[in-house]
Amino acid sequence: MSLTVYLNGQFLPYEQATVSVEDRAFLLADGIYEVVRVYAGRPFGMEGHLTRLARSARELRLPAPDLDEIERVSLELLRINNLSDATIYIQVSRGAYAPRTHAFPTGPVTPTLLVIARSFKANAAQWETGIKAITVPDQRWARCDIKSVSLLPNALAKQAATDAGAQEAIFIKDGYAIEGSSSNFFAVLDGEIRTYPSCNYILTGITRNVALDVARKLGYKVREEGIPTTALGRCTEMWVTSTTQEVMPIVSLDGQVVGDGRPGPVAQALLKAMRELL
Ligand SMILES: Cc1ncc(COP(=O)(O)O)c(C=O)c1O
Repeated sequence: MSLTVYLNGQFLPYEQATVSVEDRAFLLADGIYEVVRVYAGRPFGMEGHLTRLARSARELRLPAPDLDEIERVSLELLRINNLSDATIYIQVSRGAYAPRTHAFPTGPVTPTLLVIARSFKANAAQWETGIKAITVPDQRWARCDIKSVSLLPNALAKQAATDAGAQEAIFIKDGYAIEGSSSNFFAVLDGEIRTYPSCNYILTGITRNVALDVARKLGYKVREEGIPTTALGRCTEMWVTSTTQEVMPIVSLDGQVVGDGRPGPVAQALLKAMRELL
């Protein structure tokens, strides 16, 4: 049975869901998105994702998306497609308008709304073994706080990691490890959990915020402060957080073993506590 998706007000078979060649997300990456994880049929952190979507829209001067519609449609897609463990992908673009111009369309234009829910199975073995990461220079713009579909530097960074036999690339900006290509970066330095502060240079992850809350509740010392590259060698643990990876331990960075080369106790404690929340 074909997957049913939602495009511009209609539930459609996947094959029939097509967008215009003039869509500004296609031509100019003029769009925003969210990915929501669904556990046993229930979306996790939907409110946070929708709030961030609305913020991204405001920052890009897109019309405010109808959050009630998106939530309703998301649940309906889970039901229609009979999904249990899944992800919901939500994308809003400024819409299709001709002729192509950089400046916003001068005539009326309806934003394109796409929602796709599909089955998701995590690579569970990675939580046991941890992943390898590399560092790459951050070549992105200064509004990484907006979850825009303009992801070319992120895609190039992830490919560099893949080419190096690693699973994630950590961006280095002004001498600090700031975040992953599709995740937030954490480390344990001098006995404290460190992660880059929420600002325009990173995406403030929904999972990052949950992890920080959980860490504080568990009594860990937490510092929202960058980790200098010069201190990376002294970090006893590293991990990344994201909607699909939850808390993913890093056991090697640029070929150097992190800690004892296995997922560390803090990352494991956070993962366990977060799983209990889920
Ligand atoms: C660049 C970047 N940072 C952080 C994250 C983690 O965000 P979240 O926890 O909301 O999935 C993502 C997720 O896609 C991302 O692309």
